Amino acid sequence: MEAIVIAGGLGSRLRPLTDRRPKHVLPVGGVPFVLHQLTKLAAAGVDSVVLATSYHADAFAPVIGDGSRLGLRVSYVTEAEPMGTGGAIRNAAGELRSGPDDPVVVLNGDQLSGHDLVAQVARFEQSAADVCLHLIEVVDPRPYGCVPTGLDGAVLEFLEKSTDPVSSQVNAGCYVFRRSVIDTIPPGRVVSVERETFPELLRARRRVIGHPDSSYWRDVGTPEALVDASADLVHGIAKSPAYLSRPGERLLQAGAQVADPAGVHGGSVVGDDAVVQAGAVVEGSVLMPRSQVGPGARVVRSVVGPGATVGARTSLHGACVGDDAVVGDDCALGPGVRVACGAVISQGAVRRSAP
Ligand code: GDD
Ligand code: MG
Repeated sequence: MEAIVIAGGLGSRLRPLTDRRPKHVLPVGGVPFVLHQLTKLAAAGVDSVVLATSYHADAFAPVIGDGSRLGLRVSYVTEAEPMGTGGAIRNAAGELRSGPDDPVVVLNGDQLSGHDLVAQVARFEQSAADVCLHLIEVVDPRPYGCVPTGLDGAVLEFLEKSTDPVSSQVNAGCYVFRRSVIDTIPPGRVVSVERETFPELLRARRRVIGHPDSSYWRDVGTPEALVDASADLVHGIAKSPAYLSRPGERLLQAGAQVADPAGVHGGSVVGDDAVVQAGAVVEGSVLMPRSQVGPGARVVRSVVGPGATVGARTSLHGACVGDDAVVGDDCALGPGVRVACGAVISQGAVRRSAP
């Protein structure tokens, strides 16, 4: 079975962490995110993946290679300018070998999902669908594609980012397409699969079926979601074939130096060669490689980018510090505060929310 992973978005909500790389290679549970998805695809019987890239396209190959290490054949297709989700799928289809009636799995590249993909493909086949969509229930459907279904599971509407959603059931970003349906997406222009392709398929009365599933699911497209997903992997709440450590309070990666390991908890990850000095508390956070947390600092539900420094006694709560930035001693950064790559925040600064 073949799959397409769409991974060319700008990752704007994760800036500044995505200034220098796509969100798909950011570490989640200490593993570049895309590897969670690729190993899940392999475990479900996918043997060949086309990665539809655009933004920072060069960042993928060093992480994935040709996929053979993962038991996959991975090829790359790059859009010079992002073509939208539908345009990316259409563009990637040129690499597929599947026949017109074969199923092709299509994944949004930023979803950590415990759902049973084999069961979704089985539902696609049993219902003779043109497309089968993984659906989940959420408390606030507004940031998602709202997808009400009938009693027989048929999708009734697809309402992308509705301000007035008619249902709490939403698109979870994993589709099984009949290959011939992908070929109907117009080539060579920007297409949104959510705003254009799905509504058109429904208008044309094609068979679009929902696959509701209540397993673990998260879109890691914001710093808050990224730290939560990372901690869920460390705690063992979220499962991934790419996360190989035992469940625990913390993950300390190669070369990490932590003066007081008990102070690092809540599913935190201390990346390669990162340093946490004496008396510091790191809770539910991601410290990326080579970052430094000073003595007595307090880092809670925050991301500290590669090579960044957090000063002595400084507190971060829900903050996001870009690559190589320096936050001075005795600072306090609150929820949503983002520090640009390479920025220097002087000693004693207080920022309560995003400027
Ligand atoms: N190649 C390529 N080209 N990839 C793209 C492009 C593009 O132009 N635009 C977006 N992508 C990729 C992103 O990198 C991401 O992996 C995926 O497509 C989804 O884009 P997001 O920008 O993360 O979309 P979203 O989270 O706002 O909404 C989507 O996901 C929701 C579930 O999390 C939609 O599919 C919603 O309907 C869905 O509910
Ligand atoms: Mg997303």
